[in-house]
Amino acid sequence: MPKNLTEFDDLLDLVLDPVLWVVTARCGDEQSGLIATFVQKASLVPALPRMVAAIARHHYTWSLIENSQSFALHLVGETRLDWVDRFGLHSGRTSDKFAGLPTRRGTTGSPLLEDALLWVECRVEASLDTGDRTIYLAEVVSVGTGPDDRPLRLKRMLELLPEHQRSELQRMTANDITLDTAAIETWRAGKRNPGRSE
Ligand SMILES: Cc1cc2nc3c(=O)[nH]c(=O)nc-3n(C[C@H](O)[C@H](O)[C@H](O)COP(=O)(O)O)c2cc1C
Repeated sequence: MPKNLTEFDDLLDLVLDPVLWVVTARCGDEQSGLIATFVQKASLVPALPRMVAAIARHHYTWSLIENSQSFALHLVGETRLDWVDRFGLHSGRTSDKFAGLPTRRGTTGSPLLEDALLWVECRVEASLDTGDRTIYLAEVVSVGTGPDDRPLRLKRMLELLPEHQRSELQRMTANDITLDTAAIETWRAGKRNPGRSE
């Protein structure tokens, strides 16, 4: 039984052990991508596939999704641990995350990573602003597969990640928690007092 909310949060990660995705997007000449675990299948109807992804509003990739209303999801394989550092520990505002990677442009314009286990091109159908994140519901417009591999899960990623990258991840997570706390509180205050601009 968790003794506090931090233990509850850790327990959820442990029990759910989500797979890792790279979410890419492009608008004009700008492109980026990030690591995400908040990705979910969102339709029971095989002929009408949909996905949900939640992207923090302070990330560069978020602004590209907002402007293009599309993105591509890539299931990360265990042999692509290097994508965690490339896409998850730096911002596309300051580095070209695609340098040296085999990529091509999808039908929506989003960059597709050829070494992903599975890629899914999506067009946004609805979005929900939750303060810290935007939750996107998206129509699947095309799918494809890459090399065979085992999906990389959070627990395995933490076992495999070199110490200096684990420390960087902890530092970034602490920073995101500070930003997200302020964003959720502002959003909640706006809900309670809809007339007042925050
Ligand atoms: C294991 C892991 C899971 C993550 N999950 C998410 C997520 O679900 N949504 C999100 O917005 N960011 C998530 N992030 C954070 C972004 O991947 C990271 O901050 C990225 O550098 C943002 O890049 P950008 O500024 O180029 O968009 C995750 C990072 C890691 C390492």
